Amino acid sequence: MTLDRRSLLIAAAGAAAAQEPASAQPPPGRDPSGDAPTPDQQRRMAWWHDAKFGMFIHFGLYAAHGRHEWAMENEAIPVAEYQRFTAGFNPAPGAPRTWARLAKAAGMKYMVLTSKHHEGFCNWDTKFTNYNAVQYGPRRDIIKEYVEAARAEGLRVGFYYSLMDWHHPDGARCATDEAARRRFVDYTHGLIRELLTNYGKIDVLWYDVSWPLDAAGWESEKMNRMVFALQPDIIVNNRNRLAGDFSTPEQTIKAEAGGRAWESCMTLNDSWGYQKADDNWKSPRTVIRNLITCAQGGGNYLLNIGPQPDGGIPPESARILTEVGAWMARNGDTIYGADVCQPHTSVYANFTRKGNTLYMHVHFWPEGGDVAISGLKQKVLSAKVLKTGQALGVAQDGFRTHITGLPEAAPDAPVTVIALDCDGAPEQDTLNVRNNKPRAAVGI
Ligand code: GLC
Repeated sequence: MTLDRRSLLIAAAGAAAAQEPASAQPPPGRDPSGDAPTPDQQRRMAWWHDAKFGMFIHFGLYAAHGRHEWAMENEAIPVAEYQRFTAGFNPAPGAPRTWARLAKAAGMKYMVLTSKHHEGFCNWDTKFTNYNAVQYGPRRDIIKEYVEAARAEGLRVGFYYSLMDWHHPDGARCATDEAARRRFVDYTHGLIRELLTNYGKIDVLWYDVSWPLDAAGWESEKMNRMVFALQPDIIVNNRNRLAGDFSTPEQTIKAEAGGRAWESCMTLNDSWGYQKADDNWKSPRTVIRNLITCAQGGGNYLLNIGPQPDGGIPPESARILTEVGAWMARNGDTIYGADVCQPHTSVYANFTRKGNTLYMHVHFWPEGGDVAISGLKQKVLSAKVLKTGQALGVAQDGFRTHITGLPEAAPDAPVTVIALDCDGAPEQDTLNVRNNKPRAAVGI
């Protein structure tokens, strides 16, 4: 029997609910097993699962320095010297509109902006510290501009928040001094409360680095209870030392087992914050392949830009994302709302699935006018090139699904999608091919 992912999730949640008395239901945001989502998680996360693709934005004083967001630590820059970067941190009014427009053009459905990174500078009008964007640098509330910009483009809004803080006097000593911990945890909870109180509905809270405390030290259970009391529909990640709603593989794509939600976050070059000298850009094709791989495994792809100190988007980032967006405009239906897809083995293609339709995403177009899939168990009822609608030939011998009649040149770029309509949810059994495909009758 083949079930699509959503049916599996719903079945799992239903089974759990049936076994537990109502009073034992986990509170919102708690996922005691770390696996199967609770009904409340399914409700809050439905849009996010469909969205698949989001924009991460790392923007802070490190942009003015231009040497990576970890420079303060990795170059051991004294606080007084680092604070001077406030003078060069001058985003033009409306810069977040440019980010949001690019995100939308790239086919992204949500954005996550650093409200405070490890450097400790707050991008909003906070009453808890003067070290913020209204007192220094732009002298405007960047978070407010960002929230308005995302909403204007119809995108969901997320806040990244770093628990670790290299600027606050209690940021390190909170690990060894209880009075410092008390102050710093009150500060942290206070900042998060402000962020989730002053800017309307927020869709994602993306915690980062929990050094130097554990969940008990941060009072993370209380933190999440506050978050859900303020924003009942929000989703939170797992970086405040609790499971939260989703896992966060970083710079890698790693599907979670057991129905647990996951989102792979990745840089476009090697740096999150603006890093002038970093020219190690991913190609649009690599980005698209990564997005497909995430969708195949039931995950999301959160792809980063690190705007310049004036808020401008590095031209290479804009170029890559624009090309990705053009592809998404033609092929986004194969990504948004995709089901987990079991078939995954090919040396020149990746796969996504919607119901009984298998999408073969060919990134290296072979010569010869044909492609083939090993071990596809279902009957293919019809096949076509998605972009042109051209019908293709299909022959199946129990081991090979052979698709013929393809044009010599790839009809789409940088990845061409072939849609295969199957008689059931497609599954691939490559082991059967290895074991049972007839070998040579006689040795030669
Ligand atoms: C790491 C880095 C940080 C970046 C984050 C994004 O935790 O410390 O610079 O913001 O990854 O996932």
